[in-house]
Amino acid sequence: MDLIEKIESRKARVGIIGLGYVGFPLAMEFAAAGFEVTGIDVNPTKVKVVNHGGSHIPDVDPDQVFPLVKSGNLKATTDFGVLADCDAMSICVPTPLNKTKNPDVSFILSASREIKKHLHPGQLIVLESTTYPGTTEELIRPMLEETGLKVGEDFFLAFSPERVDPGNKVYTIRNTPKVIGASTPACLERAKTYYEQIADKVVTVSSTDAAEMVKLLENTFRSVNIALVNEVALMCDVLNIDVWEVIEAASSKPFGYMRFMPGPGLGGHCIPIDPHYLSWKLKSLNYYARFIELAGEINSRMPDYVVLKVMEALNGIEQSVKGSRILILGVAYKKDIDDVRESPALDVFKLLQQKSGEVLFSDPFVHELAMNGKVYKSQPLTPELLQSVQCVVLTTDHSCLDYEMIRKNARLIVDTRNAFGSRGIVSDRIIKL
Ligand SMILES: NC(=O)c1ccc[n+]([C@@H]2O[C@H](COP(=O)([O-])OP(=O)(O)OC[C@H]3O[C@@H](n4cnc5c(N)ncnc54)[C@H](O)[C@@H]3O)[C@@H](O)[C@H]2O)c1
Repeated sequence: MDLIEKIESRKARVGIIGLGYVGFPLAMEFAAAGFEVTGIDVNPTKVKVVNHGGSHIPDVDPDQVFPLVKSGNLKATTDFGVLADCDAMSICVPTPLNKTKNPDVSFILSASREIKKHLHPGQLIVLESTTYPGTTEELIRPMLEETGLKVGEDFFLAFSPERVDPGNKVYTIRNTPKVIGASTPACLERAKTYYEQIADKVVTVSSTDAAEMVKLLENTFRSVNIALVNEVALMCDVLNIDVWEVIEAASSKPFGYMRFMPGPGLGGHCIPIDPHYLSWKLKSLNYYARFIELAGEINSRMPDYVVLKVMEALNGIEQSVKGSRILILGVAYKKDIDDVRESPALDVFKLLQQKSGEVLFSDPFVHELAMNGKVYKSQPLTPELLQSVQCVVLTTDHSCLDYEMIRKNARLIVDTRNAFGSRGIVSDRIIKL
């Protein structure tokens, strides 16, 4: 039976490599669509949680996992040998930066080596991890073709960027269009059929390079626009103008303007990292990606600006960071999630500690933080805690926070999110970014 027929009749067995924020929801989606899905992860704890019908990702409800595990549609393993039985597979492994801020594609390479060991005719392999243009064709394809099997004839290869937005209740895998580029037309046809089973709309492009670039355009667009609005915030500060008022009014324009908000800096696994994949690739081709570098520079300096605001605020009450108890409120990189990767709140935390502040944090989603070889526990947010600190730095605006309680009890608030402004409660005790 051809792969297309196998997919359309739900007889294709699906493998998802990497069961993180991207891979686990994807595995769930294919399993819910009626496929037999095996998730493969190097982390035995995650594998165990899934096989017990649980969830390690806040966006995935364990109540939905259990029935799929029970019915046999979803299972997980650390054994890559199962790839031999898979007809289609998606690679969803991490793509961080290494210490010198260069792309670390070692996870993609190690997953591809495992696929190579079990590659056989008829299989479809799709890379979903965000990476620089050329990864699929230059790294994965030659490695898989070393087996003697030929792409587009024996096996099929494609790139389809993941667009998951953790915490977003409106846009899910199902209703977010899926972009696909493939090595050959035969590969594209199969990859398109595969993703049409779980996404309402599939958008095809002419190559894997173009599909890789699509993701980088999307994330660079965000990074550059956030940097622009962050710089506007700094300029407004110099001009003594309320940046939030300016943004609110500019957003009334129904065309030609898109609202971005300033904040303490960029966080997450994507926006602060992915544009550097692109600039790294271009550097190797002797092209300097100016916008990306400048945006990275502005965004990564925002925590310093927040600390300056804290110092000014404390100065106003004749106190210093040194010796003050300071509460960081919200350490996740964005609203209503538990992910602290690259979170600017961590930089604010460390910078205030370096200035000899006694720093604590509270976050309803993050129970502990490991930093500089120490583990810090989230403090329950109570009137007593708020009264016990000199300053509260609001870095993440979670919807469940009790702002009235915070306003009533905190002596001084540095609000990097305009949470109090948007609630119409601004006073001398609340210093806006
Ligand atoms: N998190 C997001 O919001 C998001 C959105 C879009 C794209 N992406 C991209 O998707 C990719 C995955 O991101 P994520 O957030 O899911 O990462 P993650 O760290 O949450 O998950 C990755 C998983 O892969 C596993 N893993 C690592 N090496 C492996 C290997 N060789 N074989 C099998 N499993 C392995 C890890 O144990 C982990 O469970 C990255 O390229 C990221 O840039 C992430």
